[in-house]
Amino acid sequence: MTRDWHAWYRAYDDPDSGLSRRLATVRGALQGVLDAASGPVRLVSVCAGDGRDTLPVLDASDVEVTGVLVELDPELSARARAVAPGGIEVRTADAGTTASYADACPADVFLACGVFGNVVDDDIARTVAALPSLLTSGAHVIWTRGSRVSEDPTAYDGDPAELVRGFFADAGFEAVTLIADDDAGFRVGVHRWPGPTGVPGPGERLFDFV
Ligand SMILES: C[S@@+](CC[C@H](N)C(=O)[O-])C[C@H]1O[C@@H](n2cnc3c(N)ncnc32)[C@H](O)[C@@H]1O
Repeated sequence: MTRDWHAWYRAYDDPDSGLSRRLATVRGALQGVLDAASGPVRLVSVCAGDGRDTLPVLDASDVEVTGVLVELDPELSARARAVAPGGIEVRTADAGTTASYADACPADVFLACGVFGNVVDDDIARTVAALPSLLTSGAHVIWTRGSRVSEDPTAYDGDPAELVRGFFADAGFEAVTLIADDDAGFRVGVHRWPGPTGVPGPGERLFDFV
């Protein structure tokens, strides 16, 4: 584990924390995508934590959702598993490799929340470039990025979300929305894959947390 994610989660205990505001925004984005769905939805969430950005939304939705949440930490994944509805499998596994969830793809909704701020830029680019093979035509990707500009002089020195959006544009995605909250320090992006349904390949290493 790269850091104490259990401590990180405690910011969710404060409903006014920036992280709680981000959580509400991610849930709203997922709710919006489900509301617009015309049939059953297959969902994949990588680095899913205890599932609190997805599972309450699925509970409250009339849409039939199946899929997989992938979380490395056994305690967090166990918490998610304990409350996951039928049809949602929670895997205690390394989401940095597609081998952990490729069998659950192509997905209609793919969440990468709390990921891009924890990996190097090349890994973000590699992950976004691989997404079309993991998605159905018309699928949505919900992602987050902190707003803090890197202090590393060799790193990208603009709004980090713009770098991510550039990777999505390069890969052929359509930008649906970007919700930016400077006070809370986050961006939540939604992109749509307009190309053909992908064919997941054998496992591919996409990212490592730093
Ligand atoms: C920033 S949190 C985000 C959790 C959740 N998506 C959210 O936004 O509430 C990052 C999570 O990624 C998990 N994680 C770190 N490395 C991972 C890996 N290689 N595979 C799967 N999960 C990982 C951590 O345990 C942590 O729960």
